[in-house]
Amino acid sequence: MKPKVYVSQPICQEARDYLAQYCDFKVWEQGEPIKREELLKKIADVDGLITSGRRITENLLNHAPKLKVVSNLSVGYNNFDLEVMKKRNVIGTNTPGVLDETVADLAFGLILASARRIAELDQFVKAGKWDQASGDDPFIGIDVHSATLGIIGMGRIGEAIARRGKLGFNMDVLYYNRNRKPEAEEELGVEYRDLESLLKQSDFVLLMTPLTPETEGMIGEKEFKLMKKSAIFINVSRGQTIDEQALIQALEKKEIYGAALDVFEQEPVNKDNPLLKMPNVVTTPHIGSATRKTTDAMAMKAAKNMVAALTGEEPENRVV
Ligand code: DGY
Repeated sequence: MKPKVYVSQPICQEARDYLAQYCDFKVWEQGEPIKREELLKKIADVDGLITSGRRITENLLNHAPKLKVVSNLSVGYNNFDLEVMKKRNVIGTNTPGVLDETVADLAFGLILASARRIAELDQFVKAGKWDQASGDDPFIGIDVHSATLGIIGMGRIGEAIARRGKLGFNMDVLYYNRNRKPEAEEELGVEYRDLESLLKQSDFVLLMTPLTPETEGMIGEKEFKLMKKSAIFINVSRGQTIDEQALIQALEKKEIYGAALDVFEQEPVNKDNPLLKMPNVVTTPHIGSATRKTTDAMAMKAAKNMVAALTGEEPENRVV
């Protein structure tokens, strides 16, 4: 008998065809995300779960006594309770490598959108207000080319962002990382700084670090105060890597110029979140990897990790 797998969101045909060779699988096909209660029912007798961002907790595992593998459709795996999964011998995998350039594209889109006020002015033009522009500098923004970009978290995605900054926009690129990256320094010409120096010197401070117990809340009141008043803060990592209240205050007090956020403490973001009312804040709904090609490549990787783990091989991207 083939092992049973549940996939909690639609995936591409190629990944389905691959899975079908080895597993009996079902897919949540509805447009809206599956509710947790419903998911718990669906996984009651499965061996594997392919999912994106769903919290894998003791409670979830209690509802899925046969579950052996959770294959994440994302590179981040902060949704895994690693201790509980280890204790229960549940294998967890992720999808690194295939999304680096796509996430880097989005990061740069956010840099440009916030510096040149693209999102704000798009709404202005579409609202028919162009002829009502007033004040000395109604459309003035900040140059991206030749500015200083500070990247916190120099993994593969950080490097892809640095390459765009260096080669495409002639930027000075600084980075802060747990470990120094001599190869990146040599190959890309990026310069290491301690966190405080990076925050003080950068025109754009971009957070691209995984969410771990060490990085949770790493950018808060103190860090925002260290940034230039003209700085733009960009977060493409996870909402919990910053203190969101501190960001709101820094923006309200004009301690920084603006922000661009793909991720939030709570997702979907609360409609009352003050950040949504600020014209100098650009927002996107956690879409770092969301292109057709990359999403399909992630689905294929997740399917391969699942099949490997269920057939007793070592999955390529095992994280627990
Ligand atoms: C991931 O894969 O973890 C990213 O957040 C995708 O946007």
